[in-house]
Amino acid sequence: MLEKLIQSRLQDRVRITVPDANLATVLVRPCPDLKFGDYQSNALMAIAKERKRNPRQLAEEVVAGLDVSEWCEPIEIAGAGFLNFRVKTNAVTDVLKSAYRGEHLFFERSATPRTVIVDFSSPNVAKPMHVGHIRSTILGDSLVRALRLLGHHVVTDNHIGDWGTQFGKLLVGWKKDLDRTNLERDPLAEMGRLYKQVNASFETDEEIKTQARQELVSLQSGDEENLKIWREMIDLSLQEFGKVYLRLGIRFDHVLGESFYNPQLKAVAKNLVDVGIAQESEGATVVFFDESTGWKDPAIILKSDGGANYTTTDLATLEYRLKTWQPSEIVYVTDARQQLHFQQLFDIYRRWHPSADVSLSHIWFGMILGPDGTPFKTRTGENIELNALLNEAEERALASVTEKNPDLSEKERLEIARVVGIGAVKYSDLLPNRQSDYRFDWDKMLALTGNTAVYLLYAYTRIRSVGRKAAEVGATASVEALQLTLPSELTLAKHLLRFGLSVEAMASEYRPNYLCNYLFELAGLFSQFYENCPVLKAEAQERASRLALCELAGRVLKQGLEILGIETTERM
Ligand code: ARG
Repeated sequence: MLEKLIQSRLQDRVRITVPDANLATVLVRPCPDLKFGDYQSNALMAIAKERKRNPRQLAEEVVAGLDVSEWCEPIEIAGAGFLNFRVKTNAVTDVLKSAYRGEHLFFERSATPRTVIVDFSSPNVAKPMHVGHIRSTILGDSLVRALRLLGHHVVTDNHIGDWGTQFGKLLVGWKKDLDRTNLERDPLAEMGRLYKQVNASFETDEEIKTQARQELVSLQSGDEENLKIWREMIDLSLQEFGKVYLRLGIRFDHVLGESFYNPQLKAVAKNLVDVGIAQESEGATVVFFDESTGWKDPAIILKSDGGANYTTTDLATLEYRLKTWQPSEIVYVTDARQQLHFQQLFDIYRRWHPSADVSLSHIWFGMILGPDGTPFKTRTGENIELNALLNEAEERALASVTEKNPDLSEKERLEIARVVGIGAVKYSDLLPNRQSDYRFDWDKMLALTGNTAVYLLYAYTRIRSVGRKAAEVGATASVEALQLTLPSELTLAKHLLRFGLSVEAMASEYRPNYLCNYLFELAGLFSQFYENCPVLKAEAQERASRLALCELAGRVLKQGLEILGIETTERM
């Protein structure tokens, strides 16, 4: 918002003063310490340094010709050449007015929209999603929402694991021991049981091993019966995943699983050999890496039995995506353990297509730990299932909603518990720096105080209830009346103006925690404002102004939560 206007004027000035400066580095950012101003630019110091000039002198020269007086108080040059901008209250009020009229909500759509493919969630067929998929799903979805809001063209693709050696085992189990009743009741659990059973006898039972190998080979060579079972496994799994996605409010544009790329794998391998990137080694087709990478083992493209693997499939997937959607970026959201896989994948792809103009990012995240600090599992040591987790979240939320609002109807309480429970799980996943592990803690995530979804949702209901109470006494907000007089009004208003910056920061670094912290601060500033400035009891003009400020804070909070994939509720 204002920082963009100031920035563009500053860039104009720098262009005149230092014609060869790289203007992309001339940025205006929020001041880390509000004591010094609202916005700041440190760009001139670097520009001066490059040219061996005195930074303060350069700053003075630029500032001498820089007129931002319609938005800012006189510019201050601080330290070695920082520019500090303090915005005028009038300018802030104007931005709030235009937002109130619906011209914007404190963010701008990108002037240069990009096409971004986001590969996230990507669970494996015949297995329940594990915690790694939970994080990928929640994190990936929020990134998609942020990018879309900023005007980028996003293609989402759920790259499900629907091919691979596990199907040999699954087919053996299915044919020997399938329990149809169990399958109907809980398909993923039944398939999981079959898999585990076969897997357990694998070490000791040579015959089972042979059977699994044969089933896999016959599936791969198109055996009708095996294909039919395999398709059923996929259908059932997708139905189950679909239920979870529905609960989470997540949709995919495409679900192109690994099997979709089967027909291309041989050609990919052959091409890699033809261009000299891959080579034969001990009967397999492999790619060696440059010593500087530090990766000693080669990546296997075709195993000695001719089967392709994860890397080969991902290479074919990359080709397909580039051809189909011409993205400028592909983002893969998975847990930290796949870092090496993606580094090697990107390395091979760069050698294979050196001129491809696409940025490839692996957005990885840490583990979810249980209360005791070890990987999050059930009491019996199983992976936690997402569905069960969401059930528990809703149940716990229901208990506290019921305690606080015994008078609400059951239907209302269930709906509030759904929003709060699911919101709490999502938020606790998005708030920590994604690269660190975090401890899953029900009490903490469902607490009404602290940086939690519950706190934010509650703040939202408070804002909404001010509006309802005002309507009851016939008071209305008026944007024309808007006036920022008290410090806590102005601070809240200035924070609203920074909403776009926090969404941009989130989208450019793929870090939802930036937005979480922005919203937490917003809720805190709203409370301070509400404590210090009477709204309903204020005289008419002031009341209309403060109601408008409440309304805007509510809109931003709701929009922010929406980016995080969190629904809101009118009461709690
Ligand atoms: N199915 C994989 C897993 O569960 C994740 C796939 C991630 N995407 C990709 N293109 N490799 O680990």
